[in-house]
Amino acid sequence: MDMKEQVVTAFEQGYGSRPRFIVRGPGRVNLIGEHTDYNDGFVMPMAIDRAVWLALRPRTDSLVTLTSLDMGETASFSLDDIQHNQSTWIEYVKGVAWALQAKGYSLSGWEGVMAGDVPIGAGLSSSAAVEMAAARAFLAVSDQSWEPAAMARVGQQAENQWLGVNSGIMDQMISAAGQAGHALLIDCRSLETEAVPLPPQTVVVILDTSTRRGLVDSAYNERRAQCDAAAAYFHVSALRDVNMAQFQAQADGLDEVTRRRAYHVISENERVLAAKEAMQDEDAVRLGQLMNESHTSLRDDFAVSSPALNTIVDIAQGQPGCFGARMTGAGFGGCAVALVREDAAAIFVTAVTTAYQQATNLTPNLYICQATAGAELFRPAVERPG
Ligand code: GLA
Repeated sequence: MDMKEQVVTAFEQGYGSRPRFIVRGPGRVNLIGEHTDYNDGFVMPMAIDRAVWLALRPRTDSLVTLTSLDMGETASFSLDDIQHNQSTWIEYVKGVAWALQAKGYSLSGWEGVMAGDVPIGAGLSSSAAVEMAAARAFLAVSDQSWEPAAMARVGQQAENQWLGVNSGIMDQMISAAGQAGHALLIDCRSLETEAVPLPPQTVVVILDTSTRRGLVDSAYNERRAQCDAAAAYFHVSALRDVNMAQFQAQADGLDEVTRRRAYHVISENERVLAAKEAMQDEDAVRLGQLMNESHTSLRDDFAVSSPALNTIVDIAQGQPGCFGARMTGAGFGGCAVALVREDAAAIFVTAVTTAYQQATNLTPNLYICQATAGAELFRPAVERPG
């Protein structure tokens, strides 16, 4: 049974009727452009075929009641009085309701069930998937139109202010605005997007190291502070506004660590724009090189990789049919991503799995993924009597 059928069946069992709405919020993998979003820079993620699904129907009052099939729990809250009182999965839904209300949306209650197959804490944005599914649910019930960039901002606000995680806009934006068969070049300042096709005869493989990020929050905040300090040094609001020539001319006055952090961001922004050209030229070799360079820069200059990530990336890069590989997401564990020739993908998966197991004694999880649409709303046909 696929995820959609699973939530629909559970809904029917629990509520004795068909759901009025079904929504899907996808996870994401970032092909290139890491730690650039909070520097107002460029990213190139794609929404993936791993997602959070919700089946629901409106209520006549202002209660939201949701059963998580994965957690085996039901949680409720009232839209009239949203309070922080549980540190569980429902806080993601609550945070979105709170941020929508703060933006002036008038919301109505609903009830339903949720399930997902985005691994938690793996760097594939399971939280953005829940947030964008919830946002679609609230807007559907309140009969309001879906605006991806505005909803990404809502999700980010929930993340930053309700959940207290200081993340950028990339994850929510791709989960809201993804396009099937494409990666999305996102300008994280203007939130303009451009769908960019994947090179023909290639597949994107996610390589989950099966390690989970440890000190990621504090390290993430430290990187953000270092980037802000570099931007202040260059007298700009964000590192997006510093090009390589300006950097080369003036970077001498920065301390070594800050200089390296800034160099990563400035060079990574250039790589994202070069990656877009490569993809439009159907040049998988060039795209793969840029991904490899991105990994080196994240490992050496931005210092957000980990031994497990470096091992799996090295192994992947050494396989025949692999154009390039890099860590993806915030780092310190979780997943890498590789671009692989389609007809070599099955062998690639087996070879990397075996070699990584031998090197680390850990069992990785590799999957070939498809680029999908961003958050979606489905209206199941209403059953007619007779
Ligand atoms: C996490 C954050 C994103 C982004 C990446 C790094 O996924 O949620 O906003 O900063 O790390 O590129």
